[in-house]
Amino acid sequence: MTDIERELTAERLLNGSVRRSYDSSVDIDWDAPLVPGKYFLPPEISPLYGTPMWNALTPTQRIELSRQELANLLSVGHWFENILNQALLRMIFAADPTSKYTHYALTEIGDECRHMLMFGRLIEKIGARPFRQHPVQLAFTKLAPLRMHGLQLWVWALIGEEIFDVWQRRMMDEDGLQPVVRRMMRIHVVEEARHIQWARDGVARRMRHASRLERELVGRAIGIGGPFMRDQLVHPGIYRRAGLDGDEAYRQAMANPHHKRVKVEGFDRLRRFLEDQDVFRGKARERWRAAGFIE
Ligand SMILES: [Fe+2]
Ligand SMILES: [Fe+2]
Repeated sequence: MTDIERELTAERLLNGSVRRSYDSSVDIDWDAPLVPGKYFLPPEISPLYGTPMWNALTPTQRIELSRQELANLLSVGHWFENILNQALLRMIFAADPTSKYTHYALTEIGDECRHMLMFGRLIEKIGARPFRQHPVQLAFTKLAPLRMHGLQLWVWALIGEEIFDVWQRRMMDEDGLQPVVRRMMRIHVVEEARHIQWARDGVARRMRHASRLERELVGRAIGIGGPFMRDQLVHPGIYRRAGLDGDEAYRQAMANPHHKRVKVEGFDRLRRFLEDQDVFRGKARERWRAAGFIE
């Protein structure tokens, strides 16, 4: 029964992929110049928005900050999608190459390859430099794809995809944004909707069929997702590149109630899903709360 359900879901997603997929090499006008005076991310999404430091910035400084913040998010996205793709490739290593499930996994891997290319090109286009992971974090996350299977894979896929998706949906129609950024977001939102659906389906299926031990281990392990995501969004390096006092900006951003609201809004849809599926175990929910993603 599980196999039939899995195949039907994969077939539906494959049909959707045929109907609506993009290739940024041709679907984004890379030659169009950036528009002076437009933001790279909406100001309200900035972790500094509304702080004393923010209020003292000129419009030009705010736009520069948004450029560095976008470069940071694109760098995180590029890195995360690489991890996901490695895990998906491993998942289908011994799978039936004729199954729709395998076909859809390969399709999603292809989507993510195009996204990584799009993110990299966009960092270059906006005249920024990519942000690198801290070497200690890199050593740890390099091994992540080896651990990402079963429920663990689907839950982490959602953590990486769904929070950003909520923000992108809010942002992609904003007039004040650079057109190339809006276009990128639109493409990403369309294709990620399928990935999110697939990962949600994976979570629901695994929660029904996984052993109690797997549910306990993964349900506790996702607690590290909160602090992990918090640290991806705000770190002093972003502010230094924007020409600000990195440590002071970091302090103000972390204490900013507006930033907390943005985080809570971003996580709300996924939190409700994880609660409905009864995924949280141990102190996991508390750790997301402590990281500012739950009210
Ligand atoms: Fe993606
Ligand atoms: Fe994705």
